[in-house]
Amino acid sequence: LTTAATALALSVTAQAAFAACDDGEIVVKFAHVTNTDKHPKGIAASLFQDRVNEEMDGTMCVEVFPNSTLYDDDQVLEAMLQGDVQMAAPSLSKFETFTKVFQVFDLPFLFPDIAAVDAFQQGETGQAMLDSMQRRGLQGLGFWHNGLKQMSANKPLLVPEDAAGLKFRIQPSDVIVAQMEAIDVSPQPMAFSEVYGALQTGVVDGQENTWSNIYGQKFFEVQDGITETNHGALDYLVVSSVDFLDSLEPEVRDQMLTILSEVTEERNAAVTEVDAEARQSIIDAGGEIRELTPEQRQAWVDAMKPVWEQFSDGIGQDVIDAAVAAGE
Ligand code: LMR
Repeated sequence: LTTAATALALSVTAQAAFAACDDGEIVVKFAHVTNTDKHPKGIAASLFQDRVNEEMDGTMCVEVFPNSTLYDDDQVLEAMLQGDVQMAAPSLSKFETFTKVFQVFDLPFLFPDIAAVDAFQQGETGQAMLDSMQRRGLQGLGFWHNGLKQMSANKPLLVPEDAAGLKFRIQPSDVIVAQMEAIDVSPQPMAFSEVYGALQTGVVDGQENTWSNIYGQKFFEVQDGITETNHGALDYLVVSSVDFLDSLEPEVRDQMLTILSEVTEERNAAVTEVDAEARQSIIDAGGEIRELTPEQRQAWVDAMKPVWEQFSDGIGQDVIDAAVAAGE
């Protein structure tokens, strides 16, 4: 492209992105990496956008950029600190360079279900986590649920030995690295947007993710099957920058945050349904789902749970204890 053509292309893109916003409105760019349909985060972000744009018309305008169209998760937090994007909801596995405390969410076989994750987040320890990155310029605004993770590969996985020697894409998390190494899997951190291609071309053999992500990205099409391990949680932190929040008039900020907390409550309450729908959609689309016997599942627990020990000092044993108690 010539320089002029590039400039034109950029300005067309910029116009498209801001088409819904009027002059004088505060523009809130909300970048995320998933699809919008049948996906807990996609649905919640779109609902937040629709409500702000209707109820705060003339004052504030949210523009959601889904599917990694604006940033990958490994760029979005730096971009937020630069003021190039105002909101995001990366998974809790993606804050490791800012704080170690979120590592608790990645510990394998800690939370039995999303209700336990919710109870922990709503408790004192979880609520304090929202403020844990203020000194680094980031403010947590709430937790959005997705679901428990499942394992998939280009061959059937029933016991941990079936995965030994394979390469798995992972989110960039030291806990997940340790979890995969515990089952002799080679962990390959990679952006979400690249996973389908990497599975398809054999750059990696397998991956772990939730039903809605496996369905939304069509991973089941390029895997032998999905094994229902429910071995870990994948949840989100809705996050903004301290600078952006401070720049808002108090009434404007309060109205935005009230809408956000209502959206959070409504969509979190519906997450089990969205999760189950995505699981069923995989089956309907011809995907293979393998359930484990209690003995098979126990083999995964026995292999992976010992990694907790490596992280208890960094996370804090009190935090781990509070998380375990939330599931009891
Ligand atoms: C992943 O990278 O697998 C997930 O964090 C993507 C997401 O946002 O659910």
